[in-house]
Amino acid sequence: MRTNVFSLVICLLAGTTLYAQPNINYDESKVPDYVLPELLVTSKGETIRSVSEWEKIRRPELLELFTSQMYGRTPDDSGITVRYELVTENPRALGGKATSKQVKFIFSNGTKELEALLLLLIPNGRTGKVPVFVGYNFKGNHSTLNDTTILYSRNFALVKEPGHPDWERGCQTNRWSYDDIIGRGYAVATMCYHDIFPDKPGLKDYSVVSLFKGYGDRPEAPDEWQAIGAWAWGSSRIVDYLATEPRIDTDKIAIMGHSRQGKAALWAGALDPRFKVVISNNSGEGGAALSRREYGESIERVSSIKPAWFCPAFNRYRGKEQERPFDQHQLIALMAPRAIYVASAVEDRWADPKGEYLGAYHATPVYRLYGLTGLESDQMPGLHEPIMNDIGYHIRKGKHDVTRYDWLRFMDFADKRFGKP
Ligand code: GCU
Repeated sequence: MRTNVFSLVICLLAGTTLYAQPNINYDESKVPDYVLPELLVTSKGETIRSVSEWEKIRRPELLELFTSQMYGRTPDDSGITVRYELVTENPRALGGKATSKQVKFIFSNGTKELEALLLLLIPNGRTGKVPVFVGYNFKGNHSTLNDTTILYSRNFALVKEPGHPDWERGCQTNRWSYDDIIGRGYAVATMCYHDIFPDKPGLKDYSVVSLFKGYGDRPEAPDEWQAIGAWAWGSSRIVDYLATEPRIDTDKIAIMGHSRQGKAALWAGALDPRFKVVISNNSGEGGAALSRREYGESIERVSSIKPAWFCPAFNRYRGKEQERPFDQHQLIALMAPRAIYVASAVEDRWADPKGEYLGAYHATPVYRLYGLTGLESDQMPGLHEPIMNDIGYHIRKGKHDVTRYDWLRFMDFADKRFGKP
């Protein structure tokens, strides 16, 4: 009983979804002495010494490991078409500072169609192309801004908890610093992640996964893609759309994801090189954090969430963090030579801030191969002491969340890569 009460308090302190459970470690002295899987040694034991060896041999090997054992295989999407319908355009959004567009994406496999709604804000008063942040929201586009013209997306009705104030218009404006983003000359494109794959059990038929050939016809394969794979695929479809927007600079696309979307942003960044800056906020287990630290959330826990986020093969590593043939520093390294930023919050112990830092730190050797600078010290920086190298990192005070402080640093980081807009 004592253990359970203790776990409950710890979960509350973690500032995240409440899952009371024993066996979650928050004691740094209990972190095992772990040995990380090699980043620059191939499966045949050969050392990687050049960018071309990395790109030709080791990167594909690692990408295949993450595909087959963790995030799942993205199926061939040649049978899927996407149409765009401009639903609204408002040149005086955000008090005149931005032009907003709402664009319906209609995904079709020829017999079945699904819709998703994109909200795009483009800064006014600037000429030429602008860089853009792409990111999913959790509670609908209407939750990100107090503007009655912003529509509810179709899947909102499926996932909304009736009467829950947490789903009201504007309820997550704190997570979307639009005034700052637009003020600094960035565009921002957001979509509700439920539109792509509803994150509630029993709704897979409403996910884009259900449009793909073979869906529901056969038992799931060990590497069958699940929610994270679908979210990553969906963010690439947002990039396809942005490429049709004359005001968007497609060489300057950043993806930002928080928490489960921080995991999905890393996977999207690994798969799609059009994301030139990848930002993973409080992504924790299955994201930036090293599993081998066995601190905070475990593989057992994250792989038990329903609907599944990871492919079935990942379940074999439950309770076997030290036996995984790969760990998250190798995922972060897949972004190179593009810029990657990992952000933590000190009270977000469930996500293991130190593990997130070390995940990024141990990706550094690949950045060095490119002549770039990753994280130079295995010691974490202090609170609000961001590092802005080709790998960037900050830890801020407070809980699991996306705050204005985070956005300001994300923009500083993007400015460094893209040049100030
Ligand atoms: C849960 C889950 C985490 C996830 C988080 C979120 O806490 O255990 O892995 O990151 O939800 O997405 O908010």
